[in-house]
Amino acid sequence: MTIDFKRDVLAPVAHDFTAMDTFINEGITSKVALVMAVSKHVVEAGGKRMRPIMCLLAARACGLSKIEHAHHLAAIIEMLHTATLVHDDVVDESGLRRGRPTANATWNNQTAVLVGDFLIARAFDLLVNIQNYDLLKDFSTGTCEIAEGEVLQLQSQHQPDTSEETYLKIIHGKTSRLFELATEGAAILADQAEYREPLRHYAGHFGNAFQIIDDILDYTSDAETLGKNIGDDLMEGKPTLPLIAAMRLTDHDSAQYQIIRRSIATGGIADLEQVIKIVKQSGALDYCMQRAKQETALAIEALQALPETEYRQGLQSLAELALERIQ
Ligand code: IPE
Ligand code: IPE
Ligand code: MG
Ligand code: MG
Repeated sequence: MTIDFKRDVLAPVAHDFTAMDTFINEGITSKVALVMAVSKHVVEAGGKRMRPIMCLLAARACGLSKIEHAHHLAAIIEMLHTATLVHDDVVDESGLRRGRPTANATWNNQTAVLVGDFLIARAFDLLVNIQNYDLLKDFSTGTCEIAEGEVLQLQSQHQPDTSEETYLKIIHGKTSRLFELATEGAAILADQAEYREPLRHYAGHFGNAFQIIDDILDYTSDAETLGKNIGDDLMEGKPTLPLIAAMRLTDHDSAQYQIIRRSIATGGIADLEQVIKIVKQSGALDYCMQRAKQETALAIEALQALPETEYRQGLQSLAELALERIQ
């Protein structure tokens, strides 16, 4: 049976989701009109809300009784996510996000950076209200690691010799770490210490698979489907897995190998068509898909430590659905 997002993922936490969404909107308050305008511009554009859903399912899977805490935590997670996107679009000079012009394109870089800062600060402001020191500590440390992941990526920009190991470190920091906070945070809230590690492993592997898929889509999808422009990674000279694998799989004396190296070194999308062709023909995409599938399998395996409930099943379905984006 094919997986259906509404039936298999959302339905078990549909009420929680509505409460969480209200809280996101109520949580973003500021005396400064520009802060409100920019925040609303990004938040109201939607997004898949994958991280908060994961947080809600994990909280239910852990049997959390004070479920309103999970509504707050899930909203905080989405706020942090939104902030990283606003900052990311400045760093990546991206013009389109969630089908809308980015904050940096609509206003300017200065505004986007400062409002991104506001959203992170506001997220922590709301987190303090939950009054859970372990949770606060986990989130503070984790948020530092997310920032480190983005900086590590900046250092690898225009570096064709970046290894797959370094790539994995980068994506774990910039993407998977927030997924981990979403689910491990739920276990902390529920005071279920034994579920912290399985939920962290689930989210970490899921995050890796998700970012690998996102990096494939930057070469194979289109702006209408993704809500963001493709080719952004090549434009910025980012050595993502499709390119790392393509270099490994092509003859080092060939013109193709040189095209990939040069594209990373210089950035720009002049060779985008050719790069897409090489990535496909070299078997690099197949390799990336295989890695995404492996990561998803590890994520699902980790879940088996949790009791069998519709919520655990929801987490599994969510991971399986993410894979379908490339199939
Ligand atoms: C985008 O995340 C950033 C990545 C980690 C690739 P999402 O694809 O979850 O973004 P939204 O929230 O749905 O816009
Ligand atoms: C994702 O990074 C953003 C963060 C995890 C902070 P990317 O730059 O790879 O993702 P998109 O393509 O802009 O969403
Ligand atoms: Mg980026
Ligand atoms: Mg980006």
